[in-house]
Amino acid sequence: MRKLTRILPVDAEGLATAAALLRAGWLVAFPTETVYGLGGSALDEAAVARIFAAKGRPAEDPLIVHLADVAELPRVTAGLPVAAMLLAEAFWPGPLTLIVPRGPDLPLAVTAGRPTVAVRIPAHPVARALLREAGLPIAAPSANRFGYTSPTTAAHVLADLDGRIEAILDGGPTTIGVESTVLDLTTPIPTLLRPGGVSLEALRDRLGPVLVGQRQPTGVGTGLASPGLLERHYAPVTPLWFVRGSPAAMQSWLRERVCAELALGHRVGLLVPDEDAAALADLEVDCEPLGPAGDVSQIARNLYAALRALDQRQPTLILARDLGALGLALAIRDRLTRAAAGRVVELEPMLGT
Ligand code: TXA
Ligand code: MG
Repeated sequence: MRKLTRILPVDAEGLATAAALLRAGWLVAFPTETVYGLGGSALDEAAVARIFAAKGRPAEDPLIVHLADVAELPRVTAGLPVAAMLLAEAFWPGPLTLIVPRGPDLPLAVTAGRPTVAVRIPAHPVARALLREAGLPIAAPSANRFGYTSPTTAAHVLADLDGRIEAILDGGPTTIGVESTVLDLTTPIPTLLRPGGVSLEALRDRLGPVLVGQRQPTGVGTGLASPGLLERHYAPVTPLWFVRGSPAAMQSWLRERVCAELALGHRVGLLVPDEDAAALADLEVDCEPLGPAGDVSQIARNLYAALRALDQRQPTLILARDLGALGLALAIRDRLTRAAAGRVVELEPMLGT
């Protein structure tokens, strides 16, 4: 049944309303420092079922449980690995999700029946205030329809989930812009399942060796280390091509490809750093500003809004380019590779990446 989705301001009354809705088993989207989450009580089986239904998410894809504080960990976990405490001290609150053994009181649906649970203590002041006020562990996937681009504003959430959730706390645009890093601590050597807001280098500085999980081919749905490793994910409706190579090689490939498409009468959307946009400014393309190539934080912050904006204008195709693998650039590469769903062009051997 269609519901009325309310937009709540992040004042005392808005937070109290949101917390009351969550305690009553309803769904509220809220800002985190990464992307907006679609929250429901992690301890309420019906609320968890509503999350899967609202998002159209397959039941075998487990949810992240958000907590106000490390003191809450025993409510949802059992027997934390030592590395978890080390990482908690270094990176929480923040954009890091840890896979650890699940606690017995958590409804099975949250973890899709797995013996492990994903936990995160977000840093966003609104998320923290909401978690404290609700007094509950909150299960929250990104607040988008399954398989599409994660929302970084309340308007994005409304576009995807209007009429499917009770409320959205509008805390403005998120600051990091790509999802949290997901790290599995239940493997003999910690395994990166999703690059994100905390860099692989920072994790290795603290932990020593960290393995990088392999991306799975599109369409394989079960038995994965993390269903979020599926290739087709974070995808726009418009076909997206992702090019990798040296900056000069990528720029000449972009120019050639744009010219070829324009010659066919196609409309081209460009998702590229400012330098490329400027270099291709003589061509008739649709471009959304991302920021300079050297500022990957700014590009990450703008990425999903730009992708949505381009997608909405329905070009024939979108062209995007790689930014390397350092820090947040690895997360950007991961999301754009998935958005491309196989349409990845490698221009030359990628040394050192
Ligand atoms: O930044 C974020 O992480 C955002 C905000 C709202 O916190 N949330 C988010 O959730 O991106 P979601 O559901 O879109 O992505 C969670 C990822 C999925 O790839 C899921 O498969 C994986 O975490 N995951 C969750 N529980 C897991 C588990 N027990 N084992 C392995 N992977 C798990
Ligand atoms: Mg998601």
